[in-house]
Amino acid sequence: MIKVGVCGLGMMGTTHLDIYGNHEDVKIVAVADADPKRLSGEDKASGNIDGQAQGGFDINSVERYSDAAALIAEADIDVVDICLPTSLHHRFVLQAIAAKKHVLVEKPLCRTAAQARDLAERAAAVDTLVMPAMCMRFWPGWDWLKDAVDSEAYGKTLGATFRRVVSHPGGAFYLDGDQCGGALLDLHIHDTDFINTCFGVPQSVTSTGYTQVTGAIDHVMTQYHYDHIPLVVAEGGWCMSDGFDFSMRYNVNFERATASFDLDRKEPLVLFEQGKSPRAISLAQEMGYEFEIAYFLDCLRSGEHTSRVTLASAAQALAIVEAEEKSIKTQSRVHVSV
Ligand SMILES: NC(=O)c1ccc[n+]([C@@H]2O[C@H](COP(=O)([O-])OP(=O)(O)OC[C@H]3O[C@@H](n4cnc5c(N)ncnc54)[C@H](O)[C@@H]3O)[C@@H](O)[C@H]2O)c1
Repeated sequence: MIKVGVCGLGMMGTTHLDIYGNHEDVKIVAVADADPKRLSGEDKASGNIDGQAQGGFDINSVERYSDAAALIAEADIDVVDICLPTSLHHRFVLQAIAAKKHVLVEKPLCRTAAQARDLAERAAAVDTLVMPAMCMRFWPGWDWLKDAVDSEAYGKTLGATFRRVVSHPGGAFYLDGDQCGGALLDLHIHDTDFINTCFGVPQSVTSTGYTQVTGAIDHVMTQYHYDHIPLVVAEGGWCMSDGFDFSMRYNVNFERATASFDLDRKEPLVLFEQGKSPRAISLAQEMGYEFEIAYFLDCLRSGEHTSRVTLASAAQALAIVEAEEKSIKTQSRVHVSV
């Protein structure tokens, strides 16, 4: 039996708890939250995509801690699952690996690229598994895109545009730019990370953006400059007005086809090929979170490293995001150094 303790009962902790319930050899042993209402179950988090934070797990059935530090120190667990505010990730991942626990830590890996590099270095020196939960790597339709880019099944990639926008989620953590890093770090990093996974570290970035809600960058548009692909652009932000639902899209032009993903479509992924009728690509119904956690657990069971998502690559994503921030602030093209 794999014994898990989940730290943070917000939207992500609640989603992770739901998913662990699908695995017969996993037992949730403990949960932690600093907010007494969340810890008692009186206040339940909700999500912005169907299927997130269903809240089916009965937290009253397990040990409850008011601080993640106590859970990590005291609970009889194999795995610490960290779904805490981003500014706390570095500290609690370090505590968990010092206690010889396996770790699944929500994205972004931590608050700064320097912290991320530190974690990658320290985790390399221990035997336990530490995986950043970069869910887009596992998201149905996005894993398809990664395969299409790598295999060149439709030719080389010529242009790729990504867009992830929503109204601000609210809540103390998401209102504080120091804790969450604004939409640039919290939301847009999904696309930055995915672009890095598909196309590698860009040579430089040109970004524009602004601050509206958190004091950090809340809406960004970035061009990622590569020698081998002419156009890669991503927009991310949470400055849409109230009622604007979460929107997640990409359009990728290959030499012989266009792939278009829109979460709002009934069939989100459509492939357009020259001379053929457009066709929807059939996708699994689950979200990326289910596949990401299944992969993490499979790696634990087999003792293998998590090669699909590494700490080093999560640290690269943070370094690219920091170059984007610098580009906005200096109004210039910024070289990316990882
Ligand atoms: N993968 C994704 O798609 C995705 C989506 C949303 C959020 N996230 C990430 O997940 C993390 C959590 O986000 P969220 O939306 O669940 O946030 P949230 O603010 O809703 O939940 C965080 C919880 O942690 C608790 N907490 C704070 N300090 C604590 C401590 N010391 N000990 C125990 N509990 C403590 C808070 O009381 C709160 O309930 C963030 O890093 C965020 O970026 C990832």
